[in-house]
Amino acid sequence: MASESAQKRRHLRFEIFRYNPEDQESTPQLQSFELDETPYMSLFLALNQIREKQDPSLQFDFACRSAICGSCAMMVNGRPSLACRTLTEDLPELIRLHPLPAFALIGDLSVDTGTWFRAMNERVGAWIHEQQAFDPNAREEPMNDDLAQAIYEGDRCIECGCCVAGCGIANIQPEFYGAAGLNRIARFMMDPRDKREAGDWFEVVSSDEGVFACVGLMACHDICPKELPLLEVHAYLRRRMLVSRIR
Ligand code: SF4
Ligand code: SF4
Ligand code: FES
Repeated sequence: MASESAQKRRHLRFEIFRYNPEDQESTPQLQSFELDETPYMSLFLALNQIREKQDPSLQFDFACRSAICGSCAMMVNGRPSLACRTLTEDLPELIRLHPLPAFALIGDLSVDTGTWFRAMNERVGAWIHEQQAFDPNAREEPMNDDLAQAIYEGDRCIECGCCVAGCGIANIQPEFYGAAGLNRIARFMMDPRDKREAGDWFEVVSSDEGVFACVGLMACHDICPKELPLLEVHAYLRRRMLVSRIR
């Protein structure tokens, strides 16, 4: 078995986008690195090896290494992916890495998704809008299991930015909420504790930044590394908007 796995080991070639926007001398370019593949090597391990042994100036982001924090998203051979859960054995020997488009570049493979997500969450009002003051003595209201599960599905978003980077509209229209923003809206719209009326939601969702800017080819649904049901989310929003217009 050992000799069989040794036979499968490959020599990988990386072409990695390099650019430091803070450095006036820096110009965008692809830099090549080479590495021997090891069993179950993830892109996280490969990039760390490159940084440790070949170029300590290489910038990229990681925190959890287990598809939870959302910080390691990058373009892997043209597809937005989480580097920590991408195995090199699932990729060809030539691996091209670029930073996610649609977000401000910090340097090399590192982008600022935090500012984008904070602004989006503020614009869509991504919190429970209550009209009554909080009463710590009030009885907790029960919630239907299926509804609680649907809300939980929306909350599984790790704000990695893959769906935004892979969306043609989000790339040309910076104000578009993107699939992640539409998912946030749907999550609060279906929550009975949020007291926003249909008209309030219509203002948020029906603008040029909302669901009607989406062309519906569902790249976001195919790309989302957490497999959120984005197709259903978009259908839900369109249905809700239609109903609120008919009323
Ligand atoms: S369906 Fe297409 S246009 Fe709409 S949010 Fe998803 S990727 Fe963007
Ligand atoms: S919806 Fe999916 S792809 Fe988009 S930010 Fe959330 S987890 Fe990432
Ligand atoms: S390092 Fe946290 S999602 Fe990849």
